[in-house]
Order: sequence, then structure tokens, then C-alpha cells
Amino acid sequence: MNQMPYAEARKLVTHPVACIDCHDPQTMQLRVTRPGFIEDIRAFKASQGRQNYDVNTLATRQEMRSFVCGQRHIEYYFKGPEKRLVYPWSKGLKVDEIMAYYDEVGHKDWTHADTGAPTLKAQHPEFEMWNQGIHARSGVACADCHMPYKREGALKISDHHVNSPLLKINRSCQTCHKWPEDELKARVETIQERHFKLRNIAMDALMDLIADLKSGKTAGKTDAELSAARNFQRRPSSTLISSRPRTPPASTRRRRLRESWASQSTSRGRGRTRCGAILSRRVNLRESKRRRNTTNIKKQDT
Ligand code: HEC
Ligand code: HEC
Ligand code: HEC
Repeated sequence: MNQMPYAEARKLVTHPVACIDCHDPQTMQLRVTRPGFIEDIRAFKASQGRQNYDVNTLATRQEMRSFVCGQRHIEYYFKGPEKRLVYPWSKGLKVDEIMAYYDEVGHKDWTHADTGAPTLKAQHPEFEMWNQGIHARSGVACADCHMPYKREGALKISDHHVNSPLLKINRSCQTCHKWPEDELKARVETIQERHFKLRNIAMDALMDLIADLKSGKTAGKTDAELSAARNFQRRPSSTLISSRPRTPPASTRRRRLRESWASQSTSRGRGRTRCGAILSRRVNLRESKRRRNTTNIKKQDT
């Protein structure tokens, strides 16, 4: 399917994400289904000295509460003529380690038309970024913030209406941080603003470099002469280009995004209730399965 043009592959898909992407249909246990994640988390663990890692049997429940999201919220590329989906983690998850991997295999996403630089573009590396932060280090999972518990009738369930934690700070953050809502929101926005400012400084420097490279190329500089400067373009471009456009400022953009999420949850109210009903049924099913099947055999995905 990876080799198909998008329009053709799209015809085979009716829904982008389904329960079975994250849950075993027999036991409802969390599971990882994406071959890319299974293979490349194994490669990552090997780089950390742990061989033959099998995510579906060895990950803890708390790890799975991030790994199921990490199936998709990652950096990836299509390798070789068979276009195999690969997560570039075999040297580690940090940006320098990912760059080292790409340099070694000689991958580029495209050649920059003006400068001839072999450019990279990170896709959506939320899993890798989370992994470097204080929450991952403290064992806090994606689901703790993005799928916090809620009450549905008499049941406590994980909110599957995955969106911004800032829309539900009391359930997403205040379970662990007894700080006022405004303060929590301000901490997030301060980090976002700072990141945005730093990114713009780097972006301006990158644009200057591109202009210089372009004039060097027009002036007839050789590939050998341009190679070091092209490498300077390749490195920051991989992380900068993936960021969203420059305007409006980050906090305005975030607010708009949240507003659109919030209005979606109203207009999709019926859908959500239905989802809630499915969830409740699945919980009952899971409980009765568990009683029947105390040894809890975990069905392996092939
Ligand atoms: C400590 C809580 C926390 C954890 C843990 C966490 N996030 Fe987030 N995430 C946030 C907050 C806060 C935002 C910003 C929301 C906003 O601005 O409205 C966010 C934003 C996002 C976004 C939107 C990014 C964008 O550019 O719009 C994605 C996608 C995301 N997180 C995915 C993940 C994934 C995947 C994980 C786990 C690997 C994760 N998050 C772990 C709190 C968290
Ligand atoms: C992106 C991954 C993902 C998808 C897709 C997904 N879930 Fe979940 N689900 C989770 C996570 C994470 C948990 C928390 C599990 C835990 O903590 O053990 C969970 C928990 C559950 C639970 C256990 C009770 C609870 O709420 O904690 C049920 C039941 C459930 N999901 C049903 C469903 C159904 C039905 C669908 C499809 C409509 C679905 N899930 C789709 C990730 C997912
Ligand atoms: C499951 C628990 C948990 C949840 C949920 C959680 N955090 Fe945290 N958070 C921690 C832990 C643990 C730390 C590490 C520092 C500590 O021990 O207080 C931390 C650290 C932080 C820090 C850095 C504090 C510092 O002094 O540097 C901020 C800011 C923060 N969290 C904000 C948030 C926000 C915003 C949310 C909701 C989107 C959130 N957290 C959700 C557990 C959590």
C-alpha cells in the first residue's frame, strides 16, 4: 500500500483511526499494530543495549498509554524502492541522533530548488519530543494529559475525544498539579511563546543562509565549495520547516485551534454520546472476559 499514489490508497480507507489500531479486539488490551513502531522501537531499544525488544509483550501498561499514540505521532520516512515506512530511531530519539541516522543512510526528502541542499522535513515528532521532556522522565503518558479519565454514567473511562488538554485542565493537569487553572495555562503559553520566538530567530538566520547559498550558486561556486553551507541548511530545516507558518503568534493560533476543537465537540455531541455507549459496552465486555479468562492470554498481532 505504501507504493500506491495517495488517491488510490485513500479509496481503501473509510475511517482513519479505529479501535483495533490500539486495542486487541479479543481482550481490549492496548496493543501496537503498526509494523514501523514495532520494528523501530526494537531498533531504538537495541541502541540502548536491550536486544530483541517486543513491544507488545514487554511494554508496561503505562508505556503503552504513550506507545499507542507513538504509532503515528512520530517522524518517519519511506525507505528504498519498496517505500517501507521507517521511524529513524536506530541511533536514538533525539534530533541529533535522528540526523546522524539520516546522514548515514544518505536520505533526503527533497533537493532545495534554489540552493541544491539535500533537505529534510520532520513530520510530526510529538513522541520524540515528549520523550525528551520532564513528563516522560517522570513517567507521565500521552493519555494522562490527552485522554484523562471522565465519568460516563457510573463508569470511569478514558476520554477518547482526544484534543487539547487545555480544554479540560482540571482533568488533564490538576489531577497531579494543584496549581490554579490560569497559572497552568500561562505556563503552557509561556513555553509556546518562547519556542515560537526562538524558532523565528532561527528561521530568519536560515533565510539569510538560503539567500547567500543561492547567490553563491548563481556566481558559479562548485558543489564542493557549497557542501558545508548546504549541510548547515539541511540541519535546522529539518526541524524548522515542520513548524507551522509564522503568523499569527502562537498563543492566538492555539486559542483558535482550541476554539475550533471546542465547537467540534458540541456539533459532534451525538457522535460522542454514541461513542460513550460503545465504550461502556466494551468495558462490560472486557470485565466479563477478564473474569472468564483469568490467565489473560494476550493475542499477538502478526
Ligand atoms: C503533560 C501533559 C502532556 C503530555 C504528557 C503530552 N501532551 Fe501533547 N500537548 C499537551 C499540551 C498542553 C498541548 C498544547 C495544547 C494547546 O496549545 O491547546 C499539547 C499539544 C499536542 C499536540 C498538538 C500539537 C500541534 O502542533 O497542534 C499533539 C499532536 C500532541 N500534543 C500529542 C502528544 C503525544 C503523541 C504525546 C505522547 C507521546 C503527548 N502529546 C504528551 C500536553 C501533553
Ligand atoms: C489511539 C489509540 C486508541 C484508540 C483508537 C482507541 N482507544 Fe480505547 N483506550 C486507549 C487508551 C490509551 C486507553 C487507556 C487504557 C489503559 O489505561 O489501560 C483506552 C481505554 C479503553 C477502554 C478501557 C476503559 C477506559 O476507558 O479506560 C475501553 C473500553 C476502550 N478504550 C474502548 C475503545 C473503543 C470502543 C474504541 C473505538 C471506538 C477505542 N477504545 C479506540 C487508546 C485508544
Ligand atoms: C500524571 C501526573 C501529571 C499530569 C497529568 C501532568 N503533570 Fe506536569 N508534571 C508532573 C510531574 C511528576 C512533573 C515533574 C516535576 C514534579 O515532580 O513536580 C511535572 C512537571 C510539570 C511542569 C514543570 C514544573 C517545573 O517546576 O519545572 C509543568 C509546567 C507542568 N508539569 C505542567 C503540566 C500541565 C500544563 C499539565 C496538563 C496539560 C500537566 N503538567 C499534567 C506530573 C503530571
